[in-house]
Amino acid sequence: MSMKQQILTSLSPEYPWKDRFQYIASLDSTNDRLKLLARQGAPQGTVLIADRQTGGHGRRGRSFLSPAGVGIYFSLLLRPRCAPKELMHLTCATAVAMCDALEASAGFRPGIKWTNDLVSGGRKLCGILTELGLTPGGGLDYAIIGIGVNCRQRPEDFPPEIRDMAGSLAMAAGRDIDRAKVAAAMMESLHAMSEILLSEKGELLARYRRDCVTIGREISLVRGDEVRHGRALDVDEEGGLVVAFPDGSLESVTSGEVSVRGMYGYV
Ligand code: BTN
Repeated sequence: MSMKQQILTSLSPEYPWKDRFQYIASLDSTNDRLKLLARQGAPQGTVLIADRQTGGHGRRGRSFLSPAGVGIYFSLLLRPRCAPKELMHLTCATAVAMCDALEASAGFRPGIKWTNDLVSGGRKLCGILTELGLTPGGGLDYAIIGIGVNCRQRPEDFPPEIRDMAGSLAMAAGRDIDRAKVAAAMMESLHAMSEILLSEKGELLARYRRDCVTIGREISLVRGDEVRHGRALDVDEEGGLVVAFPDGSLESVTSGEVSVRGMYGYV
């Protein structure tokens, strides 16, 4: 059975977007391709999954390694009816939905490293890149949720420069992983999230705080060349990280301006 067929077979009969899903052998980036489709009018619920990407990317132009046969490279198109500023929590809501999907399909619940990485055992398993498309008037045209999941890699499959901090679902679960089941669980969980995205913002952020392993940790905040140390206290209503500094000051930082590393490792 083809991968597409395996995924379709794993979806529940209630999943409403079965006819809006494409599985493609190789793409530059599922996010970039879905952006083109979105501009051509593709509907809410369109999903692209690639077996490999040649130009997978994350925030700040970082690349996301996307070899064939071991990962899930996934993008979902949403068209929420709201202003762009109402979607500050989109990445947080996606991270929670992904924890639900992985708990259901891989048998363990990862933690969330603020803002957009899922981790287990101190290693990154999954990255999330959400991107908004605006109308010429500055309204929201579409939102793209891009997710890369390392599923079946062994430690030696990662290049030496990321080997200490990269992990996979198989490494974390201690068993092989059925990518079709994980992909189907992602589609179902993200569909459920899309239904409450605007109406249950407080609840989604409360769930995010429960899964976020950054809260309570000593962290390094990197902003350009500047590195500051502090303690992460909370995640605010916009998804910003509330940090206490040694001089007693508090600041809420957004993921666009800083990146965060644990003081004693990646998480
Ligand atoms: C990150 O780690 O900062 C985010 C990585 C997001 C990677 C996914 S893979 C599918 C989609 N297509 C991309 O080019 N990026 C996202």
